[in-house]
Amino acid sequence: MFELKNKVALVTGGRRGMGRVHALFLARQGAKVVVTDIGAGAAECASVVREIQAADGEALCFDLDVSKKADIDRVCDEVLKAYGRLDILVNNAGIYAPKPALDITEEEWETMISINLKGQFLCAQRAAREMAKNKWGRIINISSIASGGVGIGFAGAAHYAASKGGIVGMTETLAVEWAGLGITVNAIAPGAIDTPMVREPGKVFAGEMMEEIVQRVPLKRIGKPEEVSAMVVFLVSEEASYVTGATFYVDGGWLAA
Ligand SMILES: NC(=O)c1ccc[n+]([C@@H]2O[C@H](COP(=O)([O-])OP(=O)(O)OC[C@H]3O[C@@H](n4cnc5c(N)ncnc54)[C@H](O)[C@@H]3O)[C@@H](O)[C@H]2O)c1
Repeated sequence: MFELKNKVALVTGGRRGMGRVHALFLARQGAKVVVTDIGAGAAECASVVREIQAADGEALCFDLDVSKKADIDRVCDEVLKAYGRLDILVNNAGIYAPKPALDITEEEWETMISINLKGQFLCAQRAAREMAKNKWGRIINISSIASGGVGIGFAGAAHYAASKGGIVGMTETLAVEWAGLGITVNAIAPGAIDTPMVREPGKVFAGEMMEEIVQRVPLKRIGKPEEVSAMVVFLVSEEASYVTGATFYVDGGWLAA
């Protein structure tokens, strides 16, 4: 089950954190994986590629800023040149820059939306054009439990929550529009997952906030990237052929509590 042999998968934000583990998991299932990240991050992508190759997998890496359409087109052209197809997109790249709503500048708002929301749309749009040619595709958009509609508001995350909530709406719409093209589109909304994004000073788990969050989560711990990657593997597989337009929460029971 969950065999991805002969599939080509592109992961954005793949140098570290969850993106890196998604790439490793996809390769383990047999997919050829294109690991991408922004600027200096792309050098770290090369080490993810080496990890995949060391396990007899096939992978390539590219520098890709998801907020730039020209970058997306350049990388997709390279993928087609190398592998001739694109079957799976994991829209994982994102930034999180907590700030009180009264202090968020116009520029900070625009940067957040441009990377977290516009970036996912542009990647999905280009990927869907390629997937449609083979009448088969899988798109995974990484949202967050900080996306609204779940009974929890996240102070200090107005622009982040707006971007992640937008992803849920966009996912449903794309799923409906592209169902006839053989493409499924789903979102994964992680809860608190242990990655560099939330470990940096001033971020979610810094200081006593970590303990507070762990107490709120029924499983009494934060999640591991692998626990989200397992959901990615299922959703991009043939076995998930009747699943589209849905958002899956991987949150240790946080929302149920
Ligand atoms: N860690 C959590 O608790 C958590 C919870 C919910 C959702 N998420 C989401 O999961 C995804 C992965 O986050 P993570 O926790 O692994 O964080 P991370 O910071 O380790 O990974 C994010 C990656 O995105 C890359 N990136 C940033 N801007 C980019 C751009 N313009 N173009 C391309 N790549 C860019 C970064 O270089 C980084 O490698 C993000 O979308 C994040 O919002 C994380």
